Amino acid sequence: MQYRELKAFPADFLWGASSSAYQVEGAWNEDGKGPSVIDARGHYPPGTSDYTVASDHYHRFAEDVALFAELGLKAYRFSIAWTRIIPDGDGEVNPAGVAFYHRLIDALVAAGITPIATMYHFDLPAALDGKGGWQDRTCVDAFARFAEVIFREYGDKVKHWLTINEQNMMVLYGEAIGTVKPGQPKSALYQANHHMMLAQAKANLLCHELVPDGLIGPAPNIALCYPETCHPSDVLAADDFNAIRNWLYLDMAVEGRYNSVAWAYLEETGAAPQVAEEDLELLASVRPDFIAFNYYATHTVARPREDGSDVAAGGDQQIAVGEKGIYAGAANPYLPKTEFGWEIDPIGFRNTFRALWDRYHLPLLVTENGLGAFDKLEDGQVHDGYRIDYLRDHIEQIQLAITDGVGVLGYCPWSAIDLVSTHQGVSKRYGFIYVRRDEFDLLDLARFKKDSFHWYAKVIATSGADLS
Ligand code: BG6
Repeated sequence: MQYRELKAFPADFLWGASSSAYQVEGAWNEDGKGPSVIDARGHYPPGTSDYTVASDHYHRFAEDVALFAELGLKAYRFSIAWTRIIPDGDGEVNPAGVAFYHRLIDALVAAGITPIATMYHFDLPAALDGKGGWQDRTCVDAFARFAEVIFREYGDKVKHWLTINEQNMMVLYGEAIGTVKPGQPKSALYQANHHMMLAQAKANLLCHELVPDGLIGPAPNIALCYPETCHPSDVLAADDFNAIRNWLYLDMAVEGRYNSVAWAYLEETGAAPQVAEEDLELLASVRPDFIAFNYYATHTVARPREDGSDVAAGGDQQIAVGEKGIYAGAANPYLPKTEFGWEIDPIGFRNTFRALWDRYHLPLLVTENGLGAFDKLEDGQVHDGYRIDYLRDHIEQIQLAITDGVGVLGYCPWSAIDLVSTHQGVSKRYGFIYVRRDEFDLLDLARFKKDSFHWYAKVIATSGADLS
């Protein structure tokens, strides 16, 4: 639908930006922090940095928050490293780790920036992983305890909480992201998934109990899946992949039940988890206050070809690999791609907003969206017009979605500042702020405002009225 006039962004729209602890902080073993599964991996894709120093935000957060304030951010979405708070995941609380997030949150609040905290962003404590990780039911209670600690510590200052970042990507592409050891059977992945659902439900209940005016929601990566053609079997394959990739996670988080198509898929593939009677009661007893979601691009899939080509090699958050007898990944000929092969689909953003709103009728908060690129620092400047184009095209679609009647709370693109990507190193940059370091040479880690910084500052100052 085209409109003659668009609705304005709400006055209290959360114009923000995002990061995650392990990708930005560094100081991986300082002040009592324990190792996470990311630290314990020991090897990373060839040619890419580890996460030991990252962007050194742990030591430079004050300088970074001052830059966020200059950018005009209304909100900053960050994650709390479980291993700073409870180094081994379920043992003693680490006061120095607790103090770090007080300092960060206090700096944000003092700068008038609303803190939005992700409780868990890929960095499970390695010690818990050694005990079976999410596949072991005890991890649920360890997470609930961690949740209680952080709600009690920060709940008077942090009112927006996100439970688990991209649980769906950890299940589908955990090997690429580095959260899952190679070769895990699908049944183990979906048992872990079930336990994460329980952990999320417990966190939801605790948040509502301990942070009375707190708001909490899930934060999956949601990408609407298109059929490659209008052949009914392609449409069915897209419906299947929507159920497996998207609705499995949100039907559970919002409605407390397994999506029926996704459950049929789990049974058919021998991956259905063990579900206790009391689990269903717990899951059905919670409701989030909003849905946060990360959006980079849609997916396109086709009916299974049954010729051995259904499963492609590789795959990551935005590259579907296909599954024998279920669906095949396909390219969308109408979409351009980033330098890293991810499709770019701003209109798909609006399609995704509408699908989420129609399905769940909960306010939506965008917690990631952005362009990874090989930026160049020249004479202290980064001319990232390509990122401005990407962000502008997506913000325009948010305004169209708002005009469609969708309730949107805010927009937190990825990323506030350059950080280390999940599996493609520090050279794949997303930030508004450039961090001077290379993959293996830390240089001076100095900060520089990119062209996109100045552009986004103007967007925020005009509440989206001036996107030029
Ligand atoms: C999301 C993650 O999948 O996408 C982030 O939540 C990640 O942690 C972002 O960095 C971009 O992906 P990548 O692989 O380019 O870092």
